[in-house]
Amino acid sequence: MSNHKRQRVDPFQLTIFGASGDLTREKLVPALFRLYQQGLLPDEFRVIGVGRTDLEAGKFARTLGQHLDDECEGWADFAEHLAYHRLDYDRPDDYTSLREMLRDGPGDAVRAFYLSVPPKAIIPIVDQLGRAGLAEHRSDDGIGPRVVVEKPFGSDLESARQLNQHLHTVLDERQIFRIDHYLGKETVQNIHVLRFANSIFEPIWNQKYVDHVQVTVSETVGIAGRGGYYDQAGAIRDMVQNHLMHLLCLVAMEPPNSLAPDDVRDAKVKVLTALRPIPSDCFRNDCIRGQYTAGSIGGEPMPGYREEEDVAPDSNTETFAALKTYIDNWRWSGVPFYIRTGKRMPARISEISVHFKPVPRVLFNTADAFARSRSARRPTGSLQPNVLSIRIQPNEGISMLFQVKVPGPEMAVEPFQMDFSYAEAFGRHPPDAYERLLLDVAQGDQTLFTRQDEAEAAWAFLGPILRECAGQKDLPLPNYEAGTWGPSEADELIENDGRRWTILRHRHRATDSGKDDTCPSTSG
Ligand code: BG6
Repeated sequence: MSNHKRQRVDPFQLTIFGASGDLTREKLVPALFRLYQQGLLPDEFRVIGVGRTDLEAGKFARTLGQHLDDECEGWADFAEHLAYHRLDYDRPDDYTSLREMLRDGPGDAVRAFYLSVPPKAIIPIVDQLGRAGLAEHRSDDGIGPRVVVEKPFGSDLESARQLNQHLHTVLDERQIFRIDHYLGKETVQNIHVLRFANSIFEPIWNQKYVDHVQVTVSETVGIAGRGGYYDQAGAIRDMVQNHLMHLLCLVAMEPPNSLAPDDVRDAKVKVLTALRPIPSDCFRNDCIRGQYTAGSIGGEPMPGYREEEDVAPDSNTETFAALKTYIDNWRWSGVPFYIRTGKRMPARISEISVHFKPVPRVLFNTADAFARSRSARRPTGSLQPNVLSIRIQPNEGISMLFQVKVPGPEMAVEPFQMDFSYAEAFGRHPPDAYERLLLDVAQGDQTLFTRQDEAEAAWAFLGPILRECAGQKDLPLPNYEAGTWGPSEADELIENDGRRWTILRHRHRATDSGKDDTCPSTSG
């Protein structure tokens, strides 16, 4: 991980393939513009949009500016750094002219190619970059041109391996930046700090003290016009294989030897390779899939998944997945990890909660003990175990649930929630993940990018699950209504173990957006 003080960013030229796409318009260019406004970009940088459409550079910049509201301070100056190049992915001549264009740019600038394109275009583009001499190592920084690849990195272990092998015929692993925007979120990076910059957590972060861990990533959005892609992917490929696996790794990994990119990623790979495969006879209990039907969210009617554009009317693609898994190593032996994600759920929440073991059933945790004491009153129920909740989004922060005595003559005990909120503590919401990740690309820091073996290890765990889903036609795919917390089977997954899905409600403060005010304190 990079030092807290960022090094100077060298001059760079970023070429974005798929320049007319949503990602460029909604994420990449706005992130670059914010970096520019904060003075974090070097004087010499250029962003070249590449696409099939014949577009004049000024028009390209204007279109992006309109989306951003080009009255924004500094936009006109920023737009001077935008250029456009028409290119057919398969035409070698277009890469030759791209090379000429790059040569005309800032002298020794670092080159990066961002492939915001459908998966099938990745290999042809990388091949052409190689042939045009645009992907060669440079001896001065030891990395050379970088190529940023968006997920999905294959659709199973086999295809991920093939993709990686092919990329390696042109590029060195150090040039490949497999991007997962979850890793760029401040709150995700803060997991390292919470665990390894504080001495109080690490001694209890293990099977002796932790009862179980939950990871929830729920979304209110549906498939947002991406039916063609999503119907082939589903929740496991779209969310679990990447975002949720990274969250799981960060919460469960051993302390890395250092914050150097490979040390951090080595530690993550160890978690993935220690995941216990779900045996096929446990499938019906430990892996629950669901698909939303019509319903409503916040009073707004929502269509069912099968009614969405570009989705097969008899689609069996899951829009929800919940899994129970174990990490078979010394630290986590016997501790279940419950993970769930879904579209069209009641609230947008990404949260990890670490549930500690209950205190022994003596003193405050037993009615009998109170009965023996004359002065004390009986507690009304058993004590809630401590929960540490890491809110990735929204209302980014951390909450801790612990027990306090209620003031008064009685020995009444109640859970209390202590909150840390980024917005309150730092007076602003954390920056967008792409800001951090684009700077890291420019600086050649791969810590927050997925390494080949990480991607493959995640597929190795999920591949059998996906095969089982595809192979067992009678495997239940329970439906859930849009606006609910997923199929009831997902509740049984955890409730059969005597536990409940938990979301710690963020206590409302003046600075909150209030968006998650509707979140229940527990869900399920
Ligand atoms: C993307 C998925 O990677 O992440 C989308 O393809 C999903 O389906 C999105 O909606 C969620 O990202 P975020 O940052 O809004 O939680």
